[in-house]
Amino acid sequence: MELVLEAPSVADIQAVGAALGRHAAGGDLVLLNGPLGAGKTTMTQGIANGLGIDAKVSSPTFVIVQNYHGSGLDLVHVDAYRLGSLEEIDALDLDSSLDVSLTVVEWGAGKAEVLSQNRLEVEIDRPLGAQEGQEPEDLYEDAPRVLKFRPFGERARRWLADIAADCAAYVPRKDV
Ligand SMILES: Nc1ncnc2c1ncn2[C@@H]1O[C@H](COP(=O)(O)OP(=O)(O)OP(=O)(O)O)[C@@H](O)[C@H]1O
Ligand SMILES: [Mg+2]
Repeated sequence: MELVLEAPSVADIQAVGAALGRHAAGGDLVLLNGPLGAGKTTMTQGIANGLGIDAKVSSPTFVIVQNYHGSGLDLVHVDAYRLGSLEEIDALDLDSSLDVSLTVVEWGAGKAEVLSQNRLEVEIDRPLGAQEGQEPEDLYEDAPRVLKFRPFGERARRWLADIAADCAAYVPRKDV
């Protein structure tokens, strides 16, 4: 099953993230993909909220990995943007915390899949375009995002079913 949701606002993408966090189990892995400014970190703030973490999540661009502790599972938040290779992902030793945490990797496509065969891949689409005098990534900053979920493995399929049921009441689905 694939799931496609529309997130018109920051509150929406954070609500979807919170559902993801609420239904997470130790060992779960999420790869958040999408262009600059798509909303990967914004969605991770919602995920943290769903895990009962009070700290304000920010982009771990420079530290690469940030750990958060809350009332439930720990969150391991990774920004793989500056990592060039599988070896560099390996050197972070994410395996050691994976089983007891929810691991979220921004920019993980093509790099972080090796961490687990059970994982949820989320593609965040945002409209981009070219307009004179503006950087493409600055355009349409508030445009609705489209979230495409793809589960790998049995556990991720169940997780996604829980997320879909949870979100049904408040986020529009695009794939029905
Ligand atoms: N519907 C929406 N969903 C997510 N973000 C939105 C939405 N509407 C507006 N925004 C804004 O878009 C920006 C998204 O930035 P964010 O840092 O979350 O993106 P990112 O994908 O993590 O970027 P980077 O590639 O730099 O890590 C924020 O400023 C947020 O307020
Ligand atoms: Mg980010």
